[in-house]
Amino acid sequence: MENPKHILLVEDDAPLRESIRKFLERSGYRISESSGLAEATRRLEQGAFDMVLLDLTLPDGNGMDILDRFAALYRQRIMVLTGTGSIETAVLAMKKGAHDFLQKPVNPDILLLALQRAFNYIQERSDCQNLKKEIGDAAGFDKFVFQSEVMSDLLRTAREYAATTHSILISGETGTGKELLAQAIHASSRRGNRPLIAVNCASIPEHLAESELFGYKKGAFTGAFADSPGQFILANHGTILLDEIGELPLNIQAKLLRVLENGEVTPLKSRMATRVDIRVLAATNKDLEQEVQHGRFRADLFYRIDELKLHIPPLRNRRADILPLVDHFLHLANLANARESGPISGEARRLLTAYDWPGNVRELKNAIFTFSAAGHRGPIGIEHLPLKMRHPRKSASNERRSPALADMEKDHIQRILQQAAFNYTQAAAALGISRSSLYRKVAELRIRRK
Ligand SMILES: Nc1ncnc2c1ncn2[C@@H]1O[C@H](COP(=O)(O)OP(=O)(O)OP(=O)(O)O)[C@@H](O)[C@H]1O
Ligand SMILES: [Mg+2]
Repeated sequence: MENPKHILLVEDDAPLRESIRKFLERSGYRISESSGLAEATRRLEQGAFDMVLLDLTLPDGNGMDILDRFAALYRQRIMVLTGTGSIETAVLAMKKGAHDFLQKPVNPDILLLALQRAFNYIQERSDCQNLKKEIGDAAGFDKFVFQSEVMSDLLRTAREYAATTHSILISGETGTGKELLAQAIHASSRRGNRPLIAVNCASIPEHLAESELFGYKKGAFTGAFADSPGQFILANHGTILLDEIGELPLNIQAKLLRVLENGEVTPLKSRMATRVDIRVLAATNKDLEQEVQHGRFRADLFYRIDELKLHIPPLRNRRADILPLVDHFLHLANLANARESGPISGEARRLLTAYDWPGNVRELKNAIFTFSAAGHRGPIGIEHLPLKMRHPRKSASNERRSPALADMEKDHIQRILQQAAFNYTQAAAALGISRSSLYRKVAELRIRRK
């Protein structure tokens, strides 16, 4: 049989203590008792308890001292007993890390129920942490915040794939965490201590793609004043991430395929090929199979990089991840901005979960950081949420945008880029989108430097 749960009962009222003890012992718990603060402190210092039932008004001090002292050690394992009229104190106790509070006189059935609930909660949390630990053990994977089963399955698979040398194609909508996943795969692979070179295929102008990827010899073209190794040679013995591979021009695709098949790179105007040993990861937010069908992506290259595939589902298809991510980013934003925003009301949480998040985790992260930067403190209610979340419209993400809207967007992006002298990092930060999204927008809206 399982060991009985050990509870420390801190209560100065002897008859009450006695009756609670008897009742809990009959229900299968093991009980230790303390009648005052000093004794309880000593016991807590000496032993480990599964739960502490704590009266707050004690003859030699206030039970709150125990919370201050042991909250870190006993987080969520302290249940406060409170006389009527001190609900506010009880709420304060919960803020300090107590699990729950019970009003005196204590109804035995309610006490039993509260204990069961608390132990279930603690069990669930530790299951979740074990699972996280198991997946997170591999370097890099600990950066993922998730709760959904699909993500936990996906990350488990990814960790297994990481150990192989096969190419992996990571697909998913914008902002779902493709790059984060690629970094985790690299970090936990045997090449983890070698370089990970990320190449954004959408950002290289077509006429430079070849020299950028495979390098060139001095004098290969005007302005080639010295030899340049190219990304493939830089990534040798490590991993190369071909981000947004769907954007790679067809003629470069052919050259890439040759490199992948021969394991050799020939820089522009060089007569010598260099052997490379490279793990290839590719990411795309396009449906590459469809791109192949439309003749925009080479089938042979597709099969070469598609040895293993990982698809990260959009956030709206794994809503269980939304609140953990909200809490995670709010915590980070609070730290970064030295704020105390929160807690988030139940109603607001419901709306956050119901929203479709077309920009996925990135949109969620930006929303929280923007909100925090705006200076909010204290509880967060629905009135603090953007209108679009308060009045959700069906499938806002799939709406076709009007040409006028596209024009406005184009002008705006053009202006910001111009202001940043076409520094993409700066402009992306000013626009609040990722660099890769910016590159994509620039291509999509045909923005040119004036
Ligand atoms: N499960 C997650 N837990 C914590 N952070 C995440 C998670 N998923 C994504 N992020 C964060 O969200 C942001 C966007 O992720 P990332 O850049 O990897 O997305 P992406 O799929 O590559 O997007 P794009 O297609 O636009 O390039 C990053 O800041 C990343 O760290
Ligand atoms: Mg990306």
